[in-house]
Amino acid sequence: MPRKLAEGVYEVGVIDWDRKLFDELIPLPHGTSYNAYLITGSEKTALIDTVNTGRAAELIENIKSLGIDSIDYVIANHGEQDHSGSIPDVLEAFPMAKVVTNQKCKDILKALLHVSDERFFVVGDGEKLQLGDKTLTFILAPWVHWPETMLTYLEEQKILFPCDLFGSHLATSRLFVESRCEIEEHAKRYYAEIMMPFRSHIVSHLEKLKNFEIKMIAPSHGPIHQKPDIILELYKEWVSDVPANKVLVLYVSMHGSTRKAVQHFVNKLLSIGIQVKQIDLAHADLGEIAIQLVDSATVILATPTVLTGAHPVAVYAAYLLNALRPKTRFVGLIVSYGWGGRAIEQVKGLLTNIKPFLFEPVYIHGLPAEKDYEAIERLAEEVKRRHETEI
Ligand code: FEO
Repeated sequence: MPRKLAEGVYEVGVIDWDRKLFDELIPLPHGTSYNAYLITGSEKTALIDTVNTGRAAELIENIKSLGIDSIDYVIANHGEQDHSGSIPDVLEAFPMAKVVTNQKCKDILKALLHVSDERFFVVGDGEKLQLGDKTLTFILAPWVHWPETMLTYLEEQKILFPCDLFGSHLATSRLFVESRCEIEEHAKRYYAEIMMPFRSHIVSHLEKLKNFEIKMIAPSHGPIHQKPDIILELYKEWVSDVPANKVLVLYVSMHGSTRKAVQHFVNKLLSIGIQVKQIDLAHADLGEIAIQLVDSATVILATPTVLTGAHPVAVYAAYLLNALRPKTRFVGLIVSYGWGGRAIEQVKGLLTNIKPFLFEPVYIHGLPAEKDYEAIERLAEEVKRRHETEI
C-alpha cells in the first residue's frame, strides 16, 4: 500500500515480513523491506529504485493505485537486485520510462538484467533532473558497498534517497523512526554486515553530505528517518577510528577445555574493569558477531584444534573478522589442543586485511592447568595495558 511522506512523495515498495536470509548468508531476524519512492512533479514523474526480483506486481499495483499510468524516469541508485530486480517489469508496465543512472550502474544493470541500451539516460555526479516543480540531484557515492552506488536528493523538500546507506533490515508497519533506541540495533547490524568493510568510503560520503541540507532520509530498507540527526550521529560513531574499551571473545569448545579457559579470561577482564562480550561460535548469528565488531578494540579467538587446524567455525570467524575490516586494533588467540597442530599459524594467515597487533597466543594442552590460567591472566592484563595506552 502506498504511503505518503511529503507532498508528491510516496513510498510504494514492499515489506518482506517473511524473508529470513539475504544473499543466502546474512540472517534477517526481523525481515526487511524494499522501499521504492514515487515522486510526482508538476511535469514529470520519477520512481526511485524498484523492489526485489519477483515482487514487481506489488510495486506496480501500488503505483497504479495512486492513479499513475505513466512514469518518465526510473532512478536506479544501485544495481543490486533487491532494488533493481523489478526494473524490467516496471519498464514493461511503463513503456515511456527511462532508467536514469550513472555509467557504472548502467553497465551493471545491462549485465544483470539485460536492460537494453536505449532505455538508459546516464547522469554524472551533481547532475540535476527537473520534474517541473521538483528537482532531483544525483550524488555519486561509490562503494556504499558496490562500486556504482549513488544517492538522490530532492532539492525542494530536502529529502535524501540513499538506497542502502542508512538503511536497516527491518519489516515494520512504522513508516518513520521516532527514537534512537528504536533503530540503533537494526541499523548497526545492517551497517556492520554491509558497509563496515567500506568504512573509509562511508566517511567520505558523510563528508560530502554536509553540503546538503537534509530534512528527511528515505533509505531503501527499513523505516524512514524523519529526524535525520539520529542516524547521522550513529554513523559518525560507527565510522570513527576510535574503538571502545571492549573485548569480543569468539569461542568454540568441543569438550569443555576451551570453555574453561574462556570463562577464566572473561572473569579476569570483568575483575579489571574491561567491557566484554562472549559469543559461542557454534550457535552464533553472523549479525551478532558483526555488530560487536563495529567498536571492539580487541578480539580474542578461542578454539580447540580439529584435524590439526583451528575448529572450522573459528576459521570462519577469522575469515569474517578479516573480511569485515573492523577498527579492531588487537587480536589474541587461545588454542586448546590434544596432540598439537597449526591453528595459530592458520588463523594468523587469515588476517591479512586488518593487520592487528597480535598478543602472544595462549596455547593449552588439554584441560587448562594452573600455568595456563596464569597465562590467560597475563593476556587479560596485557589487553588492559594496550587499551589504556593505545586507544
Ligand atoms: Fe539493498 Fe546493496 O542492496
